[in-house]
Amino acid sequence: MAVKPSRVFAAVIPVGDVYRDENEGMIRTVRRNTEQTLTREVQVTGNAELSSGPNRARLCLQVSSRKDSVTEAKNSVSRRLDYILQSLRQQGVKEENVTVTKDIQRAENAYYMEAEVCVTFSDFVKMQNISNFLVEKLDSSVTVSAPQFYHTTENLESIRRQVCLVAVGNARHKAKEVCRLVGQSLGRPLVIKEEETKEWEGQSEETEDQSGGSSQLTANQKIKNATVFVSSRVFVSFEIKAKGKKNS
Ligand SMILES: *[C@@H]1O[C@H](CO)[C@@H](O)[C@H](O)[C@H]1NC(C)=O
Ligand SMILES: *[C@@H]1O[C@H](CO)[C@@H](O)[C@H](O)[C@H]1NC(C)=O
Ligand SMILES: *[C@@H]1O[C@H](CO)[C@@H](O)[C@H](O)[C@H]1NC(C)=O
Repeated sequence: MAVKPSRVFAAVIPVGDVYRDENEGMIRTVRRNTEQTLTREVQVTGNAELSSGPNRARLCLQVSSRKDSVTEAKNSVSRRLDYILQSLRQQGVKEENVTVTKDIQRAENAYYMEAEVCVTFSDFVKMQNISNFLVEKLDSSVTVSAPQFYHTTENLESIRRQVCLVAVGNARHKAKEVCRLVGQSLGRPLVIKEEETKEWEGQSEETEDQSGGSSQLTANQKIKNATVFVSSRVFVSFEIKAKGKKNS
């Protein structure tokens, strides 16, 4: 039961093994099997775009002291540092999510010591709460920096995978509708190819309006700014099955 190749859609073509005819110097398609049936396929592209907000924030605090003796400088920093670390523990921050660096420098006849505590959070409300608490309790010798929002590698990889899956789903849906329109049904996939991916970070209008005053951004604006957008375009081709069992 031969099925004639037919172009049911702009991108519906018969496929077969392609070979080069040395004599004629042209490419032809040949039949795949002895029953003389040609595989007919529908080729479509699918697009998708997803966005994801940052899933981590880093909050850093700097404590410094300048004293005549190195011991005094160390003690002064240690007292405030201990208070910060204790507060973090009490508010449920795990030790593995805290890093502390200490730096001592000789400054003329004095010693300057600075310690920095950086904490990573996945709960932004908790971070805000802790940040507010520390600003309230500590004097101006402790600097609480504005939080930085970012994505973990796992988060980025997950969104890249997801957007590709959504694009393939959209392509399949499109191909299915095309087949339905022309009275055929969609067969198995023959080729699935991700043709193009793009990634960019969100730039809110408020961000653009601000020339240089980046530290003035609210937490929400910073989250928006760190939001990642990923788009994917896939090429998919499916076999076309003739409707009804007689032909297949
Ligand atoms: C805290 O540290 C653990 C171990 O390194 C890590 O798995 C987890 O994602 C961290 N949490 C945050 C909020 O960074
Ligand atoms: C916020 O902080 C206060 C004290 O600093 C604490 O009692 C409260 O449980 C915290 N709330 C959240 C949601 O972390
Ligand atoms: C906004 O995001 C860009 C990267 O996309 C970054 O370079 C810039 O520092 C961010 N601005 C703020 C205020 O966080």
